[in-house]
Amino acid sequence: MSVHSNTKRVTTQTLQEMKMKGEKIAMLTSYDYSMARIVDDAGVDVILVGDSASNVMAGHETTLPITLDQMIYHAASVVRAVNRALVVVDLPFGAYQGNSKEALTSSIRIMKESGAHAVKMEGGAEIRESIERILSAGIPVMGHLGLTPQSIYKFGTYTVRAKEEAEAERLLSDAAVLNEIGCFGIVLEKIPAVLAAKVTTSVDVPTIGIGAGPNVDGQVLVVHDMIGLTREFSPRFLRRYLHLYEDIKAAVGQYVTDVRSTDFPNEKEQY
Ligand code: KIV
Repeated sequence: MSVHSNTKRVTTQTLQEMKMKGEKIAMLTSYDYSMARIVDDAGVDVILVGDSASNVMAGHETTLPITLDQMIYHAASVVRAVNRALVVVDLPFGAYQGNSKEALTSSIRIMKESGAHAVKMEGGAEIRESIERILSAGIPVMGHLGLTPQSIYKFGTYTVRAKEEAEAERLLSDAAVLNEIGCFGIVLEKIPAVLAAKVTTSVDVPTIGIGAGPNVDGQVLVVHDMIGLTREFSPRFLRRYLHLYEDIKAAVGQYVTDVRSTDFPNEKEQY
């Protein structure tokens, strides 16, 4: 956080007020300084340093391989760029499932070493003790229910979650737990829109949807997907605002042509 900036920062309290006023919250991921600068400058309220960095930055098939040290590196780069948005960092797989002490130690490392403002964790009642311990240290926690990619090998697929009544009931009850113990928000990933709407009215804290329909308090997307840097990933919920893969490929192709033909550099592009 820059002590020189006059910009009013988004806090967890701001998000709560937005929910109460019915103002939608815009959240996007970022993993590096240059992207975070643009995303913050464009007015996004919450920047998520997601463990999706494992996929889009490092090329892994799942979010499981990314380490706590790698998340801290990404988060610190993002924090250096941001003047306004609340920066939330995913606790990566293996950094909190062991026990609540480990969850707190990992969260403290993220806050101290990156300067981020909050952490996010996947799960409900089963991680209650860890969340409470982190909250008791004064660290804001965002929950994440529905499709939780760190459990992909339990689910076996990335399809919509909680379509069946029993799972939907469990999700509602998990959301109630997260709300009651003091999470400042809950991400709802890839669940039926009707269920997301029900969760949103049943909790006091803001819900942020990804593939969860319009009746939530805000939306989140992976920035690489929404600007079309990725191509293979095309779920129904994704709106692509740009097609940067094609644009960058064309620009790089032109550069290769120009270098080979000695068109670049020209007389003005030299000393
Ligand atoms: O890691 C991530 O980018 C996320 C979002 C998809 C919510 O958790």
